[in-house]
Amino acid sequence: MSWTDVGPAAEVTDSAPLAVEVEGLHLAVVRCGNMLYAVEDRCTHDGESLGAAQVEDCQIICPRHGAHFCLRTGEALTPPAYEPLRTYADARWQDADMSDLERPLNRRGVAAAEAMAKRLLELELVPELLLVSPARRTQQTGEIVAQVLSLPPRLVMSDEGLYLASAADLLKVAQATGPRVSHLLIVAHNPGVSELVQQLVPEAEASGLATAALCSIAFECDHWTAIGVAAVKDVMRETPARGIFRLFS
Ligand code: FES
Repeated sequence: MSWTDVGPAAEVTDSAPLAVEVEGLHLAVVRCGNMLYAVEDRCTHDGESLGAAQVEDCQIICPRHGAHFCLRTGEALTPPAYEPLRTYADARWQDADMSDLERPLNRRGVAAAEAMAKRLLELELVPELLLVSPARRTQQTGEIVAQVLSLPPRLVMSDEGLYLASAADLLKVAQATGPRVSHLLIVAHNPGVSELVQQLVPEAEASGLATAALCSIAFECDHWTAIGVAAVKDVMRETPARGIFRLFS
């Protein structure tokens, strides 16, 4: 593999991808936390340039009609795009000033968290336990949710195992829930959350979750240890705001 120098990493910010041309290919170099990704600079829905796209939770959002794509895999996460974005490279960038754990929610992230918290309230999806990844952005999301749903502090717990957890690890966390809890809400990260939803939900609804999207899954079983594909009874997804993930039995 050879490296092509396309410019200084410091020019790429969370809110401003860098549009570059490499050997005739038009690429957008995008930052998410301390990772940099090079993806095709052309939305697969209708060809819009992604040079002015917003970036949230390792997803790039087409500025024209709002389709979300996973930066790691290129997968189209929301309509109107269905074809994946071509991905070319990724690299870790050490930002001396801020680690991925410390990165806060941007203004749009705060608004999305508030909107989703209100939606949870409207749907009467009030958890008996809220587990939150220790990253600053998910902690902020958890605080917003707890405030809107009037959850007492004893029902809100930070769980280090949720930070960038895989689908398998997220499932283990949910399966370890005690018998006194029937409604669990987990605030964690893509791609693990999306991958778990794709594993649990029937094929027709198996697209990934956009940033701050909500997926509520009801299971028909007596114990959390038994949750899995075979026990799924009902699924509800909300994608206006964009990873809140909720499981309940
Ligand atoms: S051109 Fe990108 S979503 Fe339509």
